[in-house]
Amino acid sequence: MCGIFAYLNYLTPKSRLEVLDLLVTGLKRLEYRGYDSTGVAIDSPDSKNIVMVKRMGKVKVLEDAIQEHFTGGEYSEPVATHIGIAHTRWATHGEPCERNSHPQRSDEGNGFVVVHNGIITNYNDVKTFLRKRGYEFESETDTEVFAKLVHHLWKTHPTYSFRELVEQAILQLEGAFAVAVKSKHFPGECVAARRSSPLLVGIKTKTRLATDHIPILYGKDDKKQTSDQVLPRSDSTSEFMPLEEKEVEYFFASDASAVIEHTNRVIYLEDDDVAAVRDGTLSIHRLKKSLDDPHAREITTLKMEIQQIMKGNYDYFMQKEIFEQPDSVVNTMRGRVRFDGNAIVLGGIKDYIPEIKRCRRLMLIGCGTSYHSAVATRQLLEELTELPVMVELASDFLDRNTPIFRDDVCFFISQSGETADTLMALRYCKQRGALIMGITNTVGSSICRESHCGVHINAGPEIGVASTKAYTSQFISLVMFALVMSEDRLSLQQRRLEILQALSNLADQIRKVLKLDSKVQELAKDLYQHKSLLIMGRGYNFATCLEGALKVKELTYMHSEGIMAGELKHGPLALVDDSMPVLMIVLRDPVYVKCMNALQQVTSRKGCPIIICEEGDEETKAFSSRSLEIPRTVDCLQGILTVIPMQLLSYHIAVLRGCDVDCPRNLAKSVTVE
Ligand code: M6R
Repeated sequence: MCGIFAYLNYLTPKSRLEVLDLLVTGLKRLEYRGYDSTGVAIDSPDSKNIVMVKRMGKVKVLEDAIQEHFTGGEYSEPVATHIGIAHTRWATHGEPCERNSHPQRSDEGNGFVVVHNGIITNYNDVKTFLRKRGYEFESETDTEVFAKLVHHLWKTHPTYSFRELVEQAILQLEGAFAVAVKSKHFPGECVAARRSSPLLVGIKTKTRLATDHIPILYGKDDKKQTSDQVLPRSDSTSEFMPLEEKEVEYFFASDASAVIEHTNRVIYLEDDDVAAVRDGTLSIHRLKKSLDDPHAREITTLKMEIQQIMKGNYDYFMQKEIFEQPDSVVNTMRGRVRFDGNAIVLGGIKDYIPEIKRCRRLMLIGCGTSYHSAVATRQLLEELTELPVMVELASDFLDRNTPIFRDDVCFFISQSGETADTLMALRYCKQRGALIMGITNTVGSSICRESHCGVHINAGPEIGVASTKAYTSQFISLVMFALVMSEDRLSLQQRRLEILQALSNLADQIRKVLKLDSKVQELAKDLYQHKSLLIMGRGYNFATCLEGALKVKELTYMHSEGIMAGELKHGPLALVDDSMPVLMIVLRDPVYVKCMNALQQVTSRKGCPIIICEEGDEETKAFSSRSLEIPRTVDCLQGILTVIPMQLLSYHIAVLRGCDVDCPRNLAKSVTVE
């Protein structure tokens, strides 16, 4: 849930100021992961010590502090080899403040400094262990125990390499984490490791790399152990050559958006991988040997473009991402939907379709917006697959120890592919023998890698904390899956054709809905000073109500509730009066008459709802002075068109209320803690 960025230049001279610039830019790219506090660590001018600067608040505050702090000319001198680490934090242990910011240190002399993402669950036990050995703690973080444990191991095992010290520390720790460590005792070296929190290594060389794979090594039990050692060491051989380059730069980052401007060659680390750079040589080690370990980690080429992670002419990433939807939905369908032949091929699951067709039920699991995409498509999946479809919030699914069977097919829907609850639910289902399908936006993410098969939604990087284009692309991915499942059902062909036809018009219709922007902005002016907004609908549009309310809550800090219109008279109607803001979705579909009933119930309590209705539907519009008209489409795709005014509305209300649109308070984009 935090952002880690580290940079190592080997025989590629850079001044410390240049390094700091790189670190700050890296943090800016990762800021969406957490923005409570930030920090950097670099070498002192004589390279004998480590200097840290930490600040509470966003990266900009750190950037200003760096400009004030590093003024001496010695910081402009080029250094051939150097390692800098940086962090942007989303607080879990200890309030956001400088003391709790990362890097955390091992001792007053900054012997070892650590940046960390995730939670060390047994940190209290390790703290007690270290306190007994004289360590005093200066922060409330779990991270500090890691720095101090490495220091303790260094004192008790003076012959250990830096990598071995970090490995030994990790072996004592429980929980989910990614770390990058720098030490004044091991200048020019960096060690990074992950367990359940994402981390990748970017590699930049002058000439093309000689290899596409980095071999995996195992530590060797070749040194004397002392009685103080907490756990036995792992065993090791060096049968492969690690990556050796003369002039090379390495980037360690929580995700690819922080490295793409430097290199497109990356290695995604797996759980329990330890990546170490020493004398410019990168090696990857495993803590434990397991039979299904591959022999090497692949160096992959990122397809991402730098413009994809820039704001361009927009004020906010969220705004840009809303307006990208005419293109992102096409990208989701590209190469998969053949409108001329009415055929759909989902390459990532096609070999599994016979097995899926024989399954007992489909389970759709996710959190937040990703969960809403499951709610939005459930009815169509039931209709076109004729299977029972269960839709689950990952956290609740785990709390209930939900029964899972070998003949279940479980979908894990996640933009980031790293959400801890969703990932835990995936592992739970995998252990029970279910077929695991990932629906993600992030190539190389944990959910991608741990799924048996899947659909990559291809929406492009989503940086705004509020999910927008990922939702519409998840929606379409699930619709495409339903279409694949019904390919050979004669009785469903007419329905399939109708949906395919609607999919082919979708991008243009989204463009049309986006033209409502200024009208939505006017509505936002009416609403932004209110305390609450109720959003009502049913059938295919209930998910839009939930998703719209989530957007309003997270961006504007206003109360908002998505209400199933059928439930109105069972309680929520009591909230309605002439001052309560209400928005209702009333479209010409099979539940139209029921929605009209709900509309009448609201207006007869003096409610004055804003209505989202179909273009030219004068009869429905007549019920209110404020309406938004959207183009007509097939019922099961309406949710894509109705959610866009909700995204725009929450965006404009947030701007009017002076909220930070891309970084709402208390939240982060990727929730890698349970
Ligand atoms: O990366 P994921 O799709 O797994 O994230 C799930 C939720 O955390 C996410 O959708 C969250 O609800 C969004 N901030 C909503 O806009």
